[in-house]
Amino acid sequence: MVHTHIVLISFPAQGAINPIIQFAKNIKRMGVKVTILSSVFAQNRMTKATSSTPDGLTFVAFSDGYDDGIKLSDNQELFRSEYKCRGSKALSELIKTSSEEGCPVTGVVYAMQLQWAAEVAREFNLPSAPLWVQPATIFALYFYYFNGYGELIKKICDDASCAIELPGLGKLTSRDVPTFMLPSNTFSIGLPGFKEQLDALDAEVNPKILVNTFDALESKALRAIGKHNLIAIGPLVPSAFLDGKDPSDNAFGGDLLQKSRDYVEWLDSKPQSSVVYISFGSFFNLPLKEMEEIARGLLESNRPFLWVLRALTDGENQEDKLSCKEELEKQGLIVPWCSQVEVLSHPSVGCFVTHCGWNSTLESLVLGIPVVCLPQFTDQPTNAKLLEDEFKTGVRATKNEEGIVEAGEIKECIELVMGDGEIGEEIRRNAKKWKYLAKEAAKEGGSSNKNLRAFVEEIEGGFQ
Ligand code: UDX
Repeated sequence: MVHTHIVLISFPAQGAINPIIQFAKNIKRMGVKVTILSSVFAQNRMTKATSSTPDGLTFVAFSDGYDDGIKLSDNQELFRSEYKCRGSKALSELIKTSSEEGCPVTGVVYAMQLQWAAEVAREFNLPSAPLWVQPATIFALYFYYFNGYGELIKKICDDASCAIELPGLGKLTSRDVPTFMLPSNTFSIGLPGFKEQLDALDAEVNPKILVNTFDALESKALRAIGKHNLIAIGPLVPSAFLDGKDPSDNAFGGDLLQKSRDYVEWLDSKPQSSVVYISFGSFFNLPLKEMEEIARGLLESNRPFLWVLRALTDGENQEDKLSCKEELEKQGLIVPWCSQVEVLSHPSVGCFVTHCGWNSTLESLVLGIPVVCLPQFTDQPTNAKLLEDEFKTGVRATKNEEGIVEAGEIKECIELVMGDGEIGEEIRRNAKKWKYLAKEAAKEGGSSNKNLRAFVEEIEGGFQ
């Protein structure tokens, strides 16, 4: 019998690597041989922290040009074409050598942006599927944009007072849509990229899209588009926090950024559910003016806090720029990076002030932590709407006329979520409910576990 051997191809960003690493660990536990193909840059970072390198996963790297000096920010087009060209070649070679070595590749799973991987899989007659690492709601919304609802969606994007209702997605205003849809959008990727990906998927007979979500969480959005088969296989969060099958699987084991560990002892010294954790993910840096507001909001809340402020690319510490740095250091701890899942699972953490990246959103649900939402760009506004209106585990902070969330608003939101009032109590009850439902989905025989097993079996059968 041919052993199932799946190649996973990740986009080199932390928000894309974490779910693919977790996906790898999950299918490996189902007996699949897994090879992760990534750029030299991503692989070096993933495997450098040897203590956290996931056991038994094989890594193969290709140079995408970044390590030869092609910087993404210098020339995005060149970078993308180099990534495609060098990645396709590396995947073809991997498929050929695996066959020669007696462990042939039987399927390919790739980050949705990397459609070239599906083209290569087709050349070798192998089944393939993209992994979508944002919510099903975003997939459905983008799909609607290109399939009959574009004008309606543009209407709300142009007029903040307008609301529309889309099948399976409920009521939406400009505040709820991904920033790539707004007239203010300056990114050339996003919507046009999604259109290309959709067109490419249309070339498949029965496209399957793996989605990092679970049935109970987005049941309507998952079924909103009949044409595409969205398969919920999430939440892709380490097993120790979900099915508990593997207690040693308690971190992502693929950090692109340096981790500091001194915060654990500090958290240990704080009372239960007392700490506010603040992080804006792996990518986005807030302008100083907005950081100053957050800093003052935290001081006014008078609660202990753990704030992740990544060093800037020039190595400069962001906290050094804050006018109230000394006061902050008396009340809380600022770190350049941490293991977020470990922090959110610590008993002293009681609230997460988040940019609402989809991984952070899922991690807050899995670990039952209420949130204050400060969405910035791409899918984050929609994720914030889901957290506030659908999952009901948090509140969205309101911006002032300048588009800034002021200190007083931050303090009020933290009080609402952590305080004794009825709203806070309901939010905390809902957070506990989702923690339970996430575990139910991930456990043996749970909805996501069954979906993933069925997918692996279909790969074994070549998607017949
Ligand atoms: C990007 C996009 O910004 C986001 O909107 C999209 O949904 C996914 O891709 P990012 O901004 O990095 O992701 O945010 P998020 O999706 O939350 O992912 C960040 C990951 O880094 C999380 O898994 C989180 O656990 C991890 N992290 C973050 C840490 O481990 N330590 C930290 O200090 C901060």
